[in-house]
Amino acid sequence: MTGKNATFAHRNNKSEEKLLMDKETLRNHIVNSARLKRIIDLLIMNQKLTRPRWYVRLLAPLYQQRAWSAKIYGSVRMDTPPYRRFVIGKRSVVESYSCVNNAVGDVVIGDHTRIGLHSTVIGPVSIGSHVNLAQGVTVSALNHNFSETDKRIDEQGITTRQIVIEDDVWIGTNATVLAGVRIGSHSVIAAGAVVTHDIPPHSLAAGVPAQVKRKI
Ligand SMILES: CC(C)(COP(=O)(O)OP(=O)(O)OC[C@H]1O[C@@H](n2cnc3c(N)ncnc32)[C@H](O)[C@@H]1OP(=O)(O)O)[C@@H](O)C(=O)NCCC(=O)NCCS
Repeated sequence: MTGKNATFAHRNNKSEEKLLMDKETLRNHIVNSARLKRIIDLLIMNQKLTRPRWYVRLLAPLYQQRAWSAKIYGSVRMDTPPYRRFVIGKRSVVESYSCVNNAVGDVVIGDHTRIGLHSTVIGPVSIGSHVNLAQGVTVSALNHNFSETDKRIDEQGITTRQIVIEDDVWIGTNATVLAGVRIGSHSVIAAGAVVTHDIPPHSLAAGVPAQVKRKI
């Protein structure tokens, strides 16, 4: 590299560093200022409908990571404000009348995965590749707090625990996967199961609460 090029690259690195620092400063500023946070939240979310405002939804393709070959049907309710990540990999499909919500945690979906009709995914959720959610499946990493008896439940905030569904899993119709659960690869969750604990890889689990019935 010539002296001139080296100076140019050095300057470029410096300006990139500065940009990153500025972004970080701005982020910290927003995180630490309750008032600013509230204003931004008001601009982004419709408080009554608890979903992103229409103009934010129009911008979604700009801030989400969607593979061009992924398909999200028009009727899907995408409650995906830009606070958190929404990622969907190649050839994955979110079927009609489903709902994806990343307002309180990232939703990451791998490649060749299918979210079946009428399913609901509430982050933080990570779904691997070649996963098949049948119809009406609920995957919710969110719980409402309720331990304080002198307060209403809707005043007590929420708790989230990451859900992980590894690659090559089939989840039967109307099953529910609860917060904090990890489902190991090449597993089958039977129809109507309620998964409250981790399921090891290569398992067939069924029932309420879901129990491993046999190894696959
Ligand atoms: C799990 C499933 C695939 C059956 O697999 P299988 O290998 O034939 O399993 P078996 O019938 O041998 O059942 C194994 C055990 O799980 C139980 N079981 C199976 N499905 C169950 C269910 N949905 N709920 C509760 N228990 C169930 C069986 O009664 C059996 O229990 P046992 O050992 O105490 O007798 C099937 O029951 C199922 O739930 N399919 C989902 C269908 C669906 O959602 N289709 C949508 C298309 S994407």
